[in-house]
Amino acid sequence: MGIKEFTGLIHPALAVAVVFPLIGMVVYLSLQTRIRRLQMADGQKSKINPKAGSEHLQLGKWLATFVVVVTLIGMAHPIITKGIENNLWAEESGRVIFIATLFGLTLASLALLYQTRTKVWRAVFATLTGMGLVIIGCQPEIFRRGFEWYTSHYYYGMTACLLMVLSLAVVPDIYQDKQKRWRRAHAVLNLFATLLFIGQGFTGTRDIFEIGLYTPPPGMLPFFF
Ligand code: HEM
Ligand code: HEM
Repeated sequence: MGIKEFTGLIHPALAVAVVFPLIGMVVYLSLQTRIRRLQMADGQKSKINPKAGSEHLQLGKWLATFVVVVTLIGMAHPIITKGIENNLWAEESGRVIFIATLFGLTLASLALLYQTRTKVWRAVFATLTGMGLVIIGCQPEIFRRGFEWYTSHYYYGMTACLLMVLSLAVVPDIYQDKQKRWRRAHAVLNLFATLLFIGQGFTGTRDIFEIGLYTPPPGMLPFFF
């Protein structure tokens, strides 16, 4: 394994060790929240912890943050490694600066999305975060598997990631909407996101398999880039 493969493990390792356990907890708490709400609406006494909703929100915020960060790392790795291989800095220094700025702006927009309360600013920063992710994803270094988009790690991951950003943006709407339309939409959309996350487990491991290991030429140090 060379440095290229070793650094390529940061993204899958973070997804497996941090994101997937968080998904389990967030989904469990979401079911607790829903069951408790329906029991209370039915006039029953509920044994479920009344803090299930706020804990779902708290862990949901961590989940959304980690999914965005892990997605950015998943895209940074091929851009950096292919960029070094193709001498991108010398060839297209303007694009290198543009991409580096986009990474910063995407993270800054996500941070600002946490700070804002009004509808307009939440929409603005969620859109900016999403745009940053999609424009980075459009770079030619990213393998999008367009010929088999229905099993693409990129398209599944990007969709799930955008759904996490949307969830962050609509938190006040979920609480304020008396007709519960946002609450229902959130539950349905994120049920879909959960399926996409499961898909990420399959497509990601397939991709590690497909990328394979770099075999250094005889006599070369194994940590050759
Ligand atoms: C795997 C991801 C997720 C799933 C499957 C999910 C699902 C759900 C479900 C089923 C509910 C209960 C709906 C009801 O009461 O009928 C809910 C509530 C809620 N979700 Fe999520 N959700 C996810 C992620 C997130 C994220 C990332 C956020 C935001 C950071 C979030 C924020 C909320 C909020 C604020 C509520 C209302 C909680 C309350 O009643 O106190 N969720 N979610
Ligand atoms: C939270 C779930 C995940 C999300 C949102 C996600 C997202 C992404 C995105 C957007 C990319 C860049 C596009 C591409 O090269 O396909 C990527 C790359 C990749 N992901 Fe994931 N991923 C997730 C989980 C996983 C898991 C569980 C694995 C494997 C166990 C994995 C393995 C990979 C690999 C091998 C690459 C290629 C990186 C490279 O070319 O250097 N991912 N991921």
